[in-house]
Amino acid sequence: MFVCLCHPFSDKKVKEHLEKSQGRARVGEVYSACSEGNKPNCCQCLETLKDIVKTHNNTITA
Ligand code: FES
Repeated sequence: MFVCLCHPFSDKKVKEHLEKSQGRARVGEVYSACSEGNKPNCCQCLETLKDIVKTHNNTITA
């Protein structure tokens, strides 16, 4: 599933990045990593991205 259409990346790519973050991921940093350094354009994907990051961080027990 594509999360962002402005700088297209999928939820799979987001999860790959989150695996390396050990529960300390930040939305802006995840966006940048997944979009090869770009900033959000229309920002419509950010709520979805926030949900994925929050869910992931809450399931990690560091
Ligand atoms: S859909 Fe992600 S910035 Fe537009």
